[in-house]
Amino acid sequence: MDIKTTLTSLKPYQVEPPFEGIRLDANETRNFLFPEGFFLKDFEFHRYPDHQAIELRQGLSQYLSIDLKYILEGNGSSELIELIIKTFAEKDDLIMSFEPTFSMYRIYATLYGTQYIGFPLNDDYTLDVPKFMEEVTLNQPKILFLCTPNNPTGGQLKKEDILKIIQATNALVVIDEAYIEFANPEDSLSQEGFVHDNVIVLRTFSKAFGLASIRLGYMIANETIINQVNRVKSPYHLNQVSQRIGLEALSQCNQVKDEINAVVQRRDSLYQKLLTLPITLYPSSGNFLFIESPNKDLYAPLLARGIRIRAYQNPKSSYRITIGTQEENEILYQALKEILL
Ligand SMILES: Cc1ncc(COP(=O)(O)O)c(C=O)c1O
Repeated sequence: MDIKTTLTSLKPYQVEPPFEGIRLDANETRNFLFPEGFFLKDFEFHRYPDHQAIELRQGLSQYLSIDLKYILEGNGSSELIELIIKTFAEKDDLIMSFEPTFSMYRIYATLYGTQYIGFPLNDDYTLDVPKFMEEVTLNQPKILFLCTPNNPTGGQLKKEDILKIIQATNALVVIDEAYIEFANPEDSLSQEGFVHDNVIVLRTFSKAFGLASIRLGYMIANETIINQVNRVKSPYHLNQVSQRIGLEALSQCNQVKDEINAVVQRRDSLYQKLLTLPITLYPSSGNFLFIESPNKDLYAPLLARGIRIRAYQNPKSSYRITIGTQEENEILYQALKEILL
């Protein structure tokens, strides 16, 4: 059987095999909410999950202080990225973002037969906002993905720049805030995205909540957009176990705040330490650091020392390192010193 012609260049999403060492390659956070596990009391395993995820959305509504009607749950924010493209982009429509950024925008764009343009970030991985806006005006994309803080480079866009971009385009602007909890909250659009008729804000439990395994994300947008995406989502798309765990996690949001603060402190102290090494280091607002090491490969020697980080070919010789525990960060730093000095 031939695969659809639009998909011939598509490869399966690459994930690294299981690994017993120190895993600093996937921007996960430690298991701080449920280290003892999770007991599901009165759980109706025989029932389909709540298709509207009402209780979870009520929990999110309280957590975010915004109305329930502006929130739609997802099976990870990845599912929502796909649903957005499925809902709004016709075949051959244009989807735009900047480059490098989260790879799934391009992959889902390809899946749905749309065109994709990645506007190059500056050499220091900041965004030239006026030039980007010119390109957007010129190309008239249907959907624009803005990842802020950006994965993998860590830079955060200013809210005033995001608003300028929103106002300058008819595109649906999707602001991916997967890492926003580790960043400057004043630049988040979660509290106001829904007043615009062309904005979606994406968030996830996979990073700040340390719950990547339950595949839980959500989007914030005005009611019209929520209803449009609702038409496209599969029946019972979000399993009830994830809904219950997400709700329980939201009831512990003080612990989440403490963990976020601790990660930010460890990120900033690791950043200071890495400044002493012969690598190029970029400021990061996420739970990770982005570095370049053009003269020495870091991936293989770190792996040999039991530490896995994420290596990129584009941009070449660059690496993304998740912030680990204090102990893991120290082991990483000592290993990098050995490799580089
Ligand atoms: C920028 C960005 N958006 C979305 C996601 C997907 O997150 P989820 O686990 O909620 O599908 C990731 C995961 O790494 C990410 O880095």
